[in-house]
Amino acid sequence: MTVTLSPRALMSLLVNGPRAMDVLRTALDLGLLDTLEPGPVRLDVLAAQLGVLPLRLYKFLDCIESLGFLHRVESGDDIGATSYRAVPGLRVAVDAVVGPGSTEQDRERYPWQQLHGRLAESLRGEISIDGFAWPPKTAAQTAEFERSMALGLGPAIQAVRRHSSRLWSDRRRLLDVGGGDGTLAAHILDSASHLRADVFNLPAVAPLVAATREARGHSDRLGFIGGDFFASPLPRGYDALSFVRVLHDWPNAVARELVRHAYAALEPGGLILICEEFRSPDRLAMQFFWSYFLIGVDSSVSRLREVAFYTELLTEVGFHSVAVLPGTWELVTAYKPTR
Ligand SMILES: C[S@@+](CC[C@H](N)C(=O)[O-])C[C@H]1O[C@@H](n2cnc3c(N)ncnc32)[C@H](O)[C@@H]1O
Repeated sequence: MTVTLSPRALMSLLVNGPRAMDVLRTALDLGLLDTLEPGPVRLDVLAAQLGVLPLRLYKFLDCIESLGFLHRVESGDDIGATSYRAVPGLRVAVDAVVGPGSTEQDRERYPWQQLHGRLAESLRGEISIDGFAWPPKTAAQTAEFERSMALGLGPAIQAVRRHSSRLWSDRRRLLDVGGGDGTLAAHILDSASHLRADVFNLPAVAPLVAATREARGHSDRLGFIGGDFFASPLPRGYDALSFVRVLHDWPNAVARELVRHAYAALEPGGLILICEEFRSPDRLAMQFFWSYFLIGVDSSVSRLREVAFYTELLTEVGFHSVAVLPGTWELVTAYKPTR
């Protein structure tokens, strides 16, 4: 069910956001979402199962329905006979947002309040976010930023796992450029036992990759190469190279240049992989925090690009067999000609 609300109705929901989240959290805690998702289930059955009052539950379910998350079928005057079914994936989505490891909750740690109520000043350039450097500057900022990045890697991990044999079966060495603390590379190595991966990142990240190597048991296959991709060419000797949530940090011209550097560095026949949140209404909505917060951080460009930007760029640079592999986040892949 896709519901497009009027601006007036959507704003009413936004204003009621904290109450809506209270409803969803309670529904999760009560186990209601486990029953509603396979549904349909009658109100009287649900109420008896949970030991709650049917009329109160009816209103509670109206709150969830108003969010577009429930199908409801009324049956005459007896509200007990009303049946409900939740949209697929609701329980997992609520758990992801309110449960442990929630990226939404993690973002509350960033000093977004500095902009709140002062956006006009920020737009005029009179105030900026203080205490958040991009790229990170101090060891503490680096550790905090990469920890937070690793927390949000779930969809990329799922995507590389899903396409693991297609991606890596004929590859020997992967360079994960701007590869954070090595979490993604470690997951790739889990499913490709013949592969070796090096994270290329700013030198300050070295201890974090060392910790990942230790924690994930890839002491002989997960390496680190410290460097700055603006200061020197990318290291050579790799038949696979990835940019995961890296290119979207930079303006178009810089992203183009980085892809050209990757082409130059890759071995003939080399694979390039690009993964990030390609622009769609869903991704833009889930990116809301960064769109807001980064208004006050000029050094971060934060471009949520359509996937076509990259497929066209890869062809333009000389790669062939450009493909978009499906996933919660898609993977864009392409190959450098063998000669
Ligand atoms: C948005 S994070 C993404 C990290 C990781 N790939 C992920 O998806 O979790 C961008 C990464 O680019 C790295 N980076 C930024 N500027 C860099 C530079 N000039 N040279 C190398 N790495 C850089 C950062 O340290 C960070 O690890």
